[in-house]
Amino acid sequence: MKNWYGRVATSAVTLIGVAFFTSCEPRVEPLEDVIEKGLERATEQVLLMAKELEAKEGKLPKSIKDGNLEMSGYSWWCSGFYPGELWYLYENTPTPELKRYAELYTDRVEPAKNVTSNHDVGFMLNCSFGNGYRLTQNPEYKDVMVTGARSLATRYKEHIGAIRSWDFNKQKWQYPVIIDNMMNLEFLTVVSRMTGDKQFSQIAVNHADKTMEHHFRPDYSCYHVVSYDTITGLPHIKQTHQGWADESSWSRGQAWALYGYTMMYRETGKKEYLDLANNIASYLINHPNMPEDKVPYWDFDMPEIPNTTRDASAAAIMASALIELSTINQNDFGKKCLDIAEQQIRSLTSPAYLAEKGSNCNFALMHSTGHFRGNIEVDVPLTYADYYYVEALIRMKKLLGAK
Ligand code: GLY
Repeated sequence: MKNWYGRVATSAVTLIGVAFFTSCEPRVEPLEDVIEKGLERATEQVLLMAKELEAKEGKLPKSIKDGNLEMSGYSWWCSGFYPGELWYLYENTPTPELKRYAELYTDRVEPAKNVTSNHDVGFMLNCSFGNGYRLTQNPEYKDVMVTGARSLATRYKEHIGAIRSWDFNKQKWQYPVIIDNMMNLEFLTVVSRMTGDKQFSQIAVNHADKTMEHHFRPDYSCYHVVSYDTITGLPHIKQTHQGWADESSWSRGQAWALYGYTMMYRETGKKEYLDLANNIASYLINHPNMPEDKVPYWDFDMPEIPNTTRDASAAAIMASALIELSTINQNDFGKKCLDIAEQQIRSLTSPAYLAEKGSNCNFALMHSTGHFRGNIEVDVPLTYADYYYVEALIRMKKLLGAK
């Protein structure tokens, strides 16, 4: 038995010990502060970029090449991401300056409404005009979107049940459909809702069903390209174009699939889409090659891992999709999805990925990989990394605000 001063001394030592170890624990920055930091930096960068490009008629940012800003015109598949990012940041901070630039750069994408030579019209117009219409209800934006949806629909063939993605490589692919194409479907469902014309959403559902049937492996990873035989309507080739190997898991492709089926569940309420999205999420979350910071290497099966490049764009797309998926799954799995998305947001907002103000040619994020095997856009910023990063930040901010 200790006497009273023995007990006091023991308690004091215990308290000092607890205080010491508590003070040694790293301070975790509140998620709200991380989000604000990311949005603030993205806004600074996007405005610097806007000023730089203002006098360059018709030009939009693309990436960095040989140390300099690389630009594109409206016809590059990524033309809509920068105006879309401006709209998201205007939604977050509705200043006249952000609105003016969002309108200016959205207008530069308008000619994309007549593009019928590839499937990317959805990316181009939904991110730019779609966000613009959502926030302003400008009737001219609606007209552009309806024309664009008609252009995209020309690439749908009923006997295949899918939109044709690309027209090149005709000697190899009869009717190529890439997993990325899932992302263009939202444009069609949005235009159906706007106009009441169900043909567009029917195309989207048919395409998603066909892709669900043929793009996925038993472990819920997916192929990049599936080419359909134009007579039988069945796949004749399953392979990759941007991934490491035909049977590998190209990271951004997996992220497109996750986002695409999460979005299609929201748009249609079809349970099969949610089941598939959940299975894709499980595959990605539990992948043994997912790095500790949750920013994937550009391909999950690249033999050189960890000595290869990351793809911040895949992390941003995944984070945004996982936040949405977490709101649909109100259970432990949903919590897990949100936890991974939070880790991705924290990583992307750290100095390892988020550029200093005025650096990185005024893109927000560093370290994305466009087309590694083609040695194109390797370890560079990309407009879609910034777009989905900002989307994820805003989704997370709304979610925290709603709690
Ligand atoms: N849609 C083309 C890409 O993700 O690189």
